[in-house]
Amino acid sequence: MIDRTNAIARVLARVDSTLAQPGSGFPHYADPANGVWVRSPAGDWTGGFWCGMLWLAALRTGDAAYRDHARDWASRLRVRADSNSVFKGFLFWYGAGIGDALLADPVARDLAAAGTAGLMRMYNPRARLIPLGTEAEEAFDVGANEANIDALPGTIALLLSRGGDAAAVARDHLRQHVALCVRDDGSVCQSASFDPETGALLRRYTHKGIHENSTWGRAQGWAMIGLAQALARGETEFRADAVRVADWWLANIPADGVAFWDFDDPAIPATERDSSATAIGAAALLKLAALIPEHRERYEAAARKSVDALVNGYLTPTAPGDARQPGILTEGCFNKRNGTATAHELIWGDYFLFEALLALEGDLAPERL
Ligand code: GLY
Repeated sequence: MIDRTNAIARVLARVDSTLAQPGSGFPHYADPANGVWVRSPAGDWTGGFWCGMLWLAALRTGDAAYRDHARDWASRLRVRADSNSVFKGFLFWYGAGIGDALLADPVARDLAAAGTAGLMRMYNPRARLIPLGTEAEEAFDVGANEANIDALPGTIALLLSRGGDAAAVARDHLRQHVALCVRDDGSVCQSASFDPETGALLRRYTHKGIHENSTWGRAQGWAMIGLAQALARGETEFRADAVRVADWWLANIPADGVAFWDFDDPAIPATERDSSATAIGAAALLKLAALIPEHRERYEAAARKSVDALVNGYLTPTAPGDARQPGILTEGCFNKRNGTATAHELIWGDYFLFEALLALEGDLAPERL
């Protein structure tokens, strides 16, 4: 068993080795054998998580060099404020908003404001949500009639933090995504088509899950994060939904605390895990534990179990004699449907494990993020 302080040291070592690695784009996913990053020149939907790692490193260490790096990388996202993708929520919350929330950084505040304004420009008041958009970083079915649950994390935090009209948009956007994607039993369907004139549900499907009716691991995790971000900002209307979705996670997560890539893959246990979905779920449970006192113990225990399983079995070195550089979170599954990075290090998995570790260590109040 490694302790969490040691795990955080490994994560920080990985931040340093990533900073030292040649290459100019944003770290996107890496080969776990050698830690070499595949990069995205403009940040895809994932670039904000690299900035997020740097903001968290600055918080943990107090080292101003990390803050400078975070500012430099986040500033490169500014041009994305007008991209026609709801995933700007990921870019500008994790890339900038958390730098404001944790460190009151003025550069981060300004960038977060630009991203929030860009999201507001995409709002469809008739359908009462922000659609995926024509440039959403999914392989198919994007545009003005499509939605997926991945559109909640970050988007909800940015809009509610802004208040006023933006907060009203956040409430509409979240209500609609719950209606479109959350099933009665609390499981989450990733994607939905809707009527852009009324917002009515036309069909449920998936972009990255195993089939149209499945529960893809990250769909459940992203819903938990989005709902927790709303509760954390006083939106008690969503409390029952948050509990329903989190309880489904607890009832269906494997006994060892590490999610498979899709809860409905018939090949389980002989299929890929998704360490990133697991880290997302754990980070969300820590927020909900802080926000819902009657479920605190259950949610915190489940989060601890998942985090301990990740740091002991999935974070390099994963076994005695493992010579790989420390701090690679292995076995994330980016996109099993098209075969992209199915057992790799994923930058957002690294981020959520780091956030959860810092929350468990008392370095940050998880509901602030
Ligand atoms: N679209 C976000 C994800 O793949 O998790």
